[in-house]
Amino acid sequence: MSTLLSLRGVSKRFGGLLAVNGVSMDVAPGELVSIIGPNGAGKTTLFNLLTGQLTPSTGTIALRGAEINRLPPQARARLGFGRTFQIAQTLTTLTALENAMIGGFMHHRDLRGAAARAMAALELVGLQDRAGVKGSLLTLSERRRLEVARALALEPDIVLLDEVMAGLNPTEIGHMVHLVQTLNDGGLTFLVIEHNLKVVRQFSNRVLVLHRGAMLAHGTADEVLSNPAVVEAYVGKSRQ
Ligand SMILES: Nc1ncnc2c1ncn2[C@@H]1O[C@H](COP(=O)(O)OP(=O)(O)OP(=O)(O)O)[C@@H](O)[C@H]1O
Ligand SMILES: [Mg+2]
Repeated sequence: MSTLLSLRGVSKRFGGLLAVNGVSMDVAPGELVSIIGPNGAGKTTLFNLLTGQLTPSTGTIALRGAEINRLPPQARARLGFGRTFQIAQTLTTLTALENAMIGGFMHHRDLRGAAARAMAALELVGLQDRAGVKGSLLTLSERRRLEVARALALEPDIVLLDEVMAGLNPTEIGHMVHLVQTLNDGGLTFLVIEHNLKVVRQFSNRVLVLHRGAMLAHGTADEVLSNPAVVEAYVGKSRQ
């Protein structure tokens, strides 16, 4: 198995709290790996370690075999990481197109190139008809898709989605699942933090369970969700 992303013993300490504790995992190109775990398990912190908002206290993160531990977010985006944020980062005074262009500028210095890339990303998420609408006027579902578009405009190799289904109704969740599956079928690699276990079952190649910062289990969705330790730690207290 070739490896796109590799973590070895990755930990993050905030004072007395070990928010991420010795996580090791490999992600192959084209995989869709879900990360589940109770609130405060360290899921978002793990994403922040991957995309450079935080640096690990110990351990190694490598992309295509090259260590990236100390690189800032901009450099990691350039190497192929796209992500969304748990709290949508839509700039409300900018249009959907202008928001997506923030990603488009990563590989295109000129306005026209960035705009074309951003428009292509809006089309991928079905927001092309909303390109000229200000962020403040978009619905939650549209803002979540815009977050994905902004990540896609970076022309990433791996996309990290942090609870992009949260707050959406079942129809909107269905659209988002379809979007992610279509992009994944096209070869894009995904790491997905998701509390909706129906969605996790539906689209994951593999599931990783974080509990108090550490990896409690990993395997197929069926394996993981029937694991008594996971049921005890997570499913019994699930939001579902
Ligand atoms: N910058 C920080 N400084 C101090 N503590 C932090 C910081 N970021 C996160 N934490 C703590 O680290 C732990 C893990 O937080 P994290 O946001 O990664 O959890 P999560 O699994 O994403 O939870 P949720 O499902 O609620 O989003 C929590 O106890 C949180 O309070
Ligand atoms: Mg989180």
